[in-house]
Amino acid sequence: MRSFIIPGLLALVASSALADVVYNVIGYPDTEKGAFGVVINNKLTPLTTTEATFPLWSANVVGANPSSGYRYAKLDDAGGIVDKEKFLRRIATVKARNTPNEFYQRENTFATFPALPQVYPSVRPKTSKAFDDTQIATIHLTADPATVADMLANPLDTERKAIKAGFRFINADTVYSAAEVKLKVSGHGSRKFKKLSLRIKFDDDKGETFFDRPVIKLRSQSSEPTFIREKLYIDSLNAIGARTTQAAWVRVYVNNKPFGFHLLVEDIETPFVRGTFHDGSAEPKKLGSLYQMGSHVVGEEGTMIYNGSLTANYNPEVYSNKNLGDNPKDEPIAQFAAFMKDLAEYDPTLAGGLKFWNTRLDVNQFLKSMVLEYLAGAWDGSWWKGNNFFMYFNPTQARWQFIPTDFDSTFSDGSLADVAVPYKQFAASRLRRKGKDHPLVSKLILKNKEINKEFETILKSTVQNVFNNAVLDPRIAAYEKFIEAEAAWDFSLNRSKNPGKDPKYTISTFHESLTGPVTGITYGVKPWINYRAADVPKQIK
Ligand SMILES: *[C@@H]1O[C@H](CO)[C@@H](O)[C@H](O)[C@H]1NC(C)=O
Ligand SMILES: *[C@@H]1O[C@H](CO)[C@@H](O)[C@H](O)[C@H]1NC(C)=O
Repeated sequence: MRSFIIPGLLALVASSALADVVYNVIGYPDTEKGAFGVVINNKLTPLTTTEATFPLWSANVVGANPSSGYRYAKLDDAGGIVDKEKFLRRIATVKARNTPNEFYQRENTFATFPALPQVYPSVRPKTSKAFDDTQIATIHLTADPATVADMLANPLDTERKAIKAGFRFINADTVYSAAEVKLKVSGHGSRKFKKLSLRIKFDDDKGETFFDRPVIKLRSQSSEPTFIREKLYIDSLNAIGARTTQAAWVRVYVNNKPFGFHLLVEDIETPFVRGTFHDGSAEPKKLGSLYQMGSHVVGEEGTMIYNGSLTANYNPEVYSNKNLGDNPKDEPIAQFAAFMKDLAEYDPTLAGGLKFWNTRLDVNQFLKSMVLEYLAGAWDGSWWKGNNFFMYFNPTQARWQFIPTDFDSTFSDGSLADVAVPYKQFAASRLRRKGKDHPLVSKLILKNKEINKEFETILKSTVQNVFNNAVLDPRIAAYEKFIEAEAAWDFSLNRSKNPGKDPKYTISTFHESLTGPVTGITYGVKPWINYRAADVPKQIK
């Protein structure tokens, strides 16, 4: 066959390969008038930003060749190159007419992780752009500098009013801005560290719902060097079909200064309840009552031991009502106290325990949450500390649902003597601590045969199918690679002005705490999983 070469056609093909391409990079210049640029075939094109998009820098390069590699460069006040990316970027397809929003010096914008098996059906809420965990979004906060400095200098002041801040979230394909959010320091134990957690509340009356997640926290994860423990815990809950907050890692800047590498999660408030426990439905119009249990302030724990029918019988630092539901205004604990009374009067030796409790409590959600608390050694959780959990009365189901939250102090980050024991001992130890029995654990999981069997079934299945090294190690390895540079960046930040502790983690402790002990944490994440996965089958006949 003859082939024709037609010069005109060739020229057409060549010219159609040239196109206008918009390049987009996220970055903070070193100086006030500094900027960013893109270098294509040694030619520098400056990028610009706007009030509405900063720190995103963009330019349409006319006649660019989409198959040419490119690098971003940081520019000084005069437009000269301060530094330039060492690696060459390429546009995903020659048809693309814009790059994603790429972060300066971060080579891979997206990551893929080995999937975890879905051991029990998924109950994850509808996906939200806020929690795309395959990329690291940038959160850009602005607020009056003196007010921010004062807030950060006084993190233990839990009564302090939230401050007003501007908010921007930028990921690969999204810029979300809110002119005014409410910003404050969040957490209990984490307030004692130099690196702080933040809470952000959007004004959803003004339609600012941040992808249906209008109350969020930026968790500092100050007490552990891998940043992975909490994310892995949430992944595991998702894999076994337990309802929980979703999470994604983000980079945070406050007033153009690095603040830290944080885990973005939803705060447990009514929008979370609607999204996660009612699948985002508008029904029921009126949500049920919601309680938060905390054990940090007064040494008492949220044990759910019945202490009387009146709200006054419950220490508000330990039991707090977060949504009134059907309670009388002046007795916000009434409904929950009735549940605790049922629990106090319950005889676990009676037959029909599962049926009895299923009409009062979503036993499955509770048991799955407890399985993970046990497996991950959640030292600061509900089972061991009467802490970090909520109870929600779901009016649609007319029963209670357990809500686990805040999964720091897991995977051996906490006192090992307490958690590195067989599960029956873990439950029975609560009975031995005077006034600190946790009847929901000791009566249901330990003493009721039927519910115990159900617990063991879930425990065993979770270990066999997801909570083991064969399944979790590849995901941990992918996370380690994905966030290594982010961890190094976080550890390099100078927080000496803030009060509080600095555990002085380094990129070495980041890696080491995945595979072995580091100061203050006895097991690495992987050896802890290995220990539990090997030990559980020995405990269950
Ligand atoms: C139970 O009641 C006692 C006596 O009123 C009170 O001191 C205690 O704080 C209460 N316990 C809890 C956990 O609320
Ligand atoms: C950290 O910042 C403080 C001032 O806030 C400064 O005195 C100190 O030298 C800095 N440390 C390092 C290691 O740069």
